[in-house]
Formats: sequence, C-alpha cells, structure tokens
Amino acid sequence: MTGEPARAGRPTRAPDADPRLAVSVQGVSKEYALGEERVVALANVSLNVDRGVFLALAGPSGSGKSTLLNMIGCIDTPTRGRIVINGRDVSGRTPDELAALRARTIGFVFQTFNLFPVLTAYENVEYPLQHLPEIGRRERRERVLHFLDVVGLADYARHRPNQLSGGQRQRVAIARALVAHPQLVLADEPTANLDHRTGRNILRLMRRINRATKVTFIFSTHDPQVIRMADRRVDLEDGEIVRLGVRARKEWSYAFERAAEPPAFADGETQPGR
Ligand SMILES: Nc1ncnc2c1ncn2[C@@H]1O[C@H](COP(=O)(O)OP(=O)(O)OP(=O)(O)O)[C@@H](O)[C@H]1O
Ligand SMILES: [Mg+2]
Repeated sequence: MTGEPARAGRPTRAPDADPRLAVSVQGVSKEYALGEERVVALANVSLNVDRGVFLALAGPSGSGKSTLLNMIGCIDTPTRGRIVINGRDVSGRTPDELAALRARTIGFVFQTFNLFPVLTAYENVEYPLQHLPEIGRRERRERVLHFLDVVGLADYARHRPNQLSGGQRQRVAIARALVAHPQLVLADEPTANLDHRTGRNILRLMRRINRATKVTFIFSTHDPQVIRMADRRVDLEDGEIVRLGVRARKEWSYAFERAAEPPAFADGETQPGR
C-alpha cells in the first residue's frame, strides 16, 4: 500500500502524508463479532488531526469514542481503512512494530489512571522509559523529575498511588504519558473519575502542556465543561462523525471534514467570518 517495503519496527512513511497532520484516519470501519451479531462500532470514519491541537471527542455512550481512540493508539486495528500517525501508515503492521511505534510516539491517559499500585509515583512515571534502551540512566532520572515537576508533584515522588488523591494520581498518569516525549497524547475520559473541579484542573494542566510543548492531545469526554476547553471537537454518533468544530477565541464554528462536502453549519451557529 505504501509502495516501499516495511522496515522492522519502523512503519514506512506514507508517500501522500501531509506533514501538518498528527493523525489521518481514512475510511476506517471497525466491526466486532458478538455471537451471531456484527456490531458496527465505527462506520467509515475519516478525520484529519492537525499537529498541536487540543481535540475533544464527544458523543453519547456507545458512539465509538473509545474505539476510535484505540485505533489511533494502535491498541486495536481497523476492520477496514487506513490510519497514518505522524506520517507513518500503521495499517497491517505486526504487534511488535506497533508496540515500538506506540512506545516512542504515543502517550496514554486512562479514565481509571492505570497506575501500578506497588510502584511509587517516580517509578510509575519511569516505567515507559524502561522499554527505551536508548535512554540512559541519567537522562531517565532527569526526565522523571522534570515531568513530576511539570505536573506539580515534585514532592510526591515516593508516594504510592494509594497515598495520592484522584487528581494527583491522574497527574502522575499525565507525567507518565509525557516522559517518552511522544508526539501525541490520547486520553479516554480522563476526568470521568474525578470531581468536577479536579477534572477541570486536570484539563487545564493538559492544555497548558499542550500549549507549551505543542504535543497533540486527543481526549474523549461526555462533559460539556470539558469540551468547552478544547480547540477542536469531533462529535460521534452511532460510529459516525456527525459534526466537526473549530474554536477560535470563544466561538465554535462547525463544519464537516475538509474533504468532500461543503461546510455545513449547525442550527443556531453563526457562519464563521470568512
Ligand atoms: N470488544 C467489543 N465487542 C463487541 N462490541 C464492542 C466491543 N467494544 C465496543 N463494542 C461496541 O462498539 C460500540 C462503540 O463502543 P465504544 O466503547 O467505542 O463507545 P464509547 O463512545 O467509548 O462509549 P462510552 O462513552 O460509554 O465509553 C458500542 O456499541 C459497543 O457496545
Ligand atoms: Mg468509551
């Protein structure tokens, strides 16, 4: 599909890759077999994500948000279609190749934090670097301390998860997601297990890091307050994209994907000033 042979652990650069894009999802469908039934979790979804954006995936329960994040994160593979991450076509790669790509390119933040309970905050943040032999001991330590500091937990390095609040645990998870210097951070409902105020603060922290580092963030949420903090939004329903939004200052403009249809604007929304 890419015209040149794949090199082990290094998916080939897609020849048509647009360098401005962090992610390109091209005609992706995902179907699950459930006994005799076929569940269509994603139906022919196409989406281009510019580098450096802070993007919210919105939509009701079962609309396909987690499925789409899992496809972009190379945790699961599409039934049909193609995904290009950072210029590299990741379709048809072996699990080892995908694991290598994930470890260096993508950071994950989960709804339930997913920290190792027996490890300290420091050790949890350090964990992804154990899989990157090119990073020596000194740099490992510098990075861990740096990112614990970025998330405001320099004084909590020795605490285990059960000695931290929910918000602090999620901050450890954010530091862990960033420590390998990924180009992309994916967060599936990162605020769902936090009270409202803590969730907002976690989002503010993520956005601050997004602005400072230009790392692309894609996160899913049900929470309108959280969606409001994004600068792009993608609304899913029944496995399809029903709306795409771009925010400039406080105003959202809605349009469908830049490809086929002319822009369509939602009821009550003002036409963007162009
Ligand atoms: N492993 C699976 N096997 C069968 N069906 C699945 C599987 N995973 C997801 N689905 C189905 O795919 C659809 C999309 O699920 P998904 O988890 O992506 O939704 P979601 O938008 O993340 O929902 P929520 O907001 O509740 O997390 C749902 O109908 C779900 O039941
Ligand atoms: Mg989900």
